[in-house]
Amino acid sequence: QQDDDRPPRLRVQGTQRRLPRALIIGVRKCGTRALIEMLNLHPDIRKSDSEVHFFENDDRYMNGLEWYRKKMPYSFDNQITVEKTPSYFVSREAPGRIRAMSASVKLLLIVRDPATRVLSDYAQILESKRYKGSSFKPFHKLVMLPNGEINDRYNAVQISQYVVHILRWLRVFPRNQLHIVDGDKLIHNPYPEMRKIEKFLNLPPKINAGNFYFNRTKGFYCMRNETHQRCLADSKGRRHPYVDPGIIEALRRYFAPFNEQFYQIVGQNFSWPT
Ligand code: A3P
Repeated sequence: QQDDDRPPRLRVQGTQRRLPRALIIGVRKCGTRALIEMLNLHPDIRKSDSEVHFFENDDRYMNGLEWYRKKMPYSFDNQITVEKTPSYFVSREAPGRIRAMSASVKLLLIVRDPATRVLSDYAQILESKRYKGSSFKPFHKLVMLPNGEINDRYNAVQISQYVVHILRWLRVFPRNQLHIVDGDKLIHNPYPEMRKIEKFLNLPPKINAGNFYFNRTKGFYCMRNETHQRCLADSKGRRHPYVDPGIIEALRRYFAPFNEQFYQIVGQNFSWPT
């Protein structure tokens, strides 16, 4: 078929690469990998294998939609292609560019307690710096200013100001095109969260409670189907470094007004600790 670059005999007949009809737009460290892997249990879902960073990266965006489409997996026309790139959430350009691709695309956002998210973000960067042998500032030096206030120029703090970012999306997309997953609930009981997503995507209910089992060693739910079972990589569900509880409390106080506004704007209360 001229449609594609792969010779037809290496491809299941009737499949082609298609632009996503659903996108996981973030938030980084809130369970985006778990979400896409769990969603992929559904036979009508096809996930892209990597984060394409297309809509927020100017150089990649310049390659055009045809370039992006060729990064997508092969699918049948009844299947929904899903791509996830968590940094879309904080990008100024991504909402408008995504709308230009498709005004009807469905958006999935996963959130969790913003203070825990900052710590998870720090833990990831700390690990990668350690791996490279470079030094890294302690958590309190990044999060707190010498005067005891929260450092709102720290990138990880800015990402957790969910309301600031969601407003950009809601200027471009109607609320009913966005589904927000509670990342804390996804950790503790994934099946009900997945059922809600099936409804949002108008998919027949194919994922069931038996697709998830709790793995004590990992400390998280893992996935299985008729033929496979697997947990996410060790980089998902890391042990967080110890930090003074006073800093977490200060972060929670700092985020409380942002959270209240976020609940109001999205019409969903996540009851994050204050
Ligand atoms: P921690 O590593 O801080 O615990 P992302 O994929 O967006 O980077 O998010 C990573 C987070 O996904 C992890 O953060 C973990 O808490 C969460 N998560 C949710 N469900 C999970 C699962 N079943 N297995 C592993 N991690 C999971």
